[in-house]
Amino acid sequence: MIYRRITELDFKLSDLPSLAHPSRVLMTTPEHFAIKYVINAHMNGNIGTVDKAQAFEDWVEVKNAYVHCGVDVETLAGVAGLPDMVFCANQTLPYLSEDGKHKGVVLSKMFAPQRAPEVQHFRRHFEERGYQIMDDLASSTIEFEGMGDALWHSGKRLLWGGYGFRTDHRVYDLISEKLNVPILLLNLEDPEFYHLDTCMCILDDQTVLIFPNAFTSDGLALIRHFFSVVIEAPEIEARTLFACNAHCPDRKHVLIQKGCEGTNAALRNHGFEVIELSTDEFLKSGGSVFCMKLMTW
Ligand code: ARG
Repeated sequence: MIYRRITELDFKLSDLPSLAHPSRVLMTTPEHFAIKYVINAHMNGNIGTVDKAQAFEDWVEVKNAYVHCGVDVETLAGVAGLPDMVFCANQTLPYLSEDGKHKGVVLSKMFAPQRAPEVQHFRRHFEERGYQIMDDLASSTIEFEGMGDALWHSGKRLLWGGYGFRTDHRVYDLISEKLNVPILLLNLEDPEFYHLDTCMCILDDQTVLIFPNAFTSDGLALIRHFFSVVIEAPEIEARTLFACNAHCPDRKHVLIQKGCEGTNAALRNHGFEVIELSTDEFLKSGGSVFCMKLMTW
């Protein structure tokens, strides 16, 4: 159930079971956010440059935008010495069991050793709330960065799996088998788009926002096959403002870094309501809205 190109497809979207839309987000508080090392191209030259007060303001603005959209926001306290823990899309991939009765998370195996200790805090958070914990990766060498790279199709038991920089494609064999879901693989080749969520934002079951040059031709063909509306972010907005790291929590509002004029015009043309936010301090670390929260059930 792993697909790399359209010629391999043996199902239609309408054949797949539906998946409830996640109704909540988890956010890690930002008091320990900083840039202390460089593990992606965007962090280059930015060590020690985070304005803490501004970062806190940015974070509160993102949180308030979710509340405005009617999304429940849960918080997990940031931990001293883990400056990237605030990017809480990366440590897990939440899922629902096939019968919809059980909630679970696949625990990540972080690519950078500096981020590895973050995972245990998410494990504890979800354990305490009764989630199933899938921790097969702990004892393996297979890297995986959760919802940085694995994205649920809107409303369907179907996963999009990015790989190449932070995630090892072999993880998708395991996830596909354990969760019984088909997975569409997307190979990432441009280091500025090191996670799938930096170049692809699923808005609803038919609409996606992407930066096309981040994908291979096989990947792009898969995307165009499954989405009837493909909105393309202009290069400058995708690279410098993380336009595709936006998030649409309700198939209506799009939370996005401010200044993405071309992207926003296209989003509005397709009927979305744009909510512009400042995530300036987090952009310095290679993340924006999507990375700063985790969708959960
Ligand atoms: N500095 C963090 C890292 O390099 C940023 C993570 C951004 N998260 C994301 N989902 N793209 O790991």
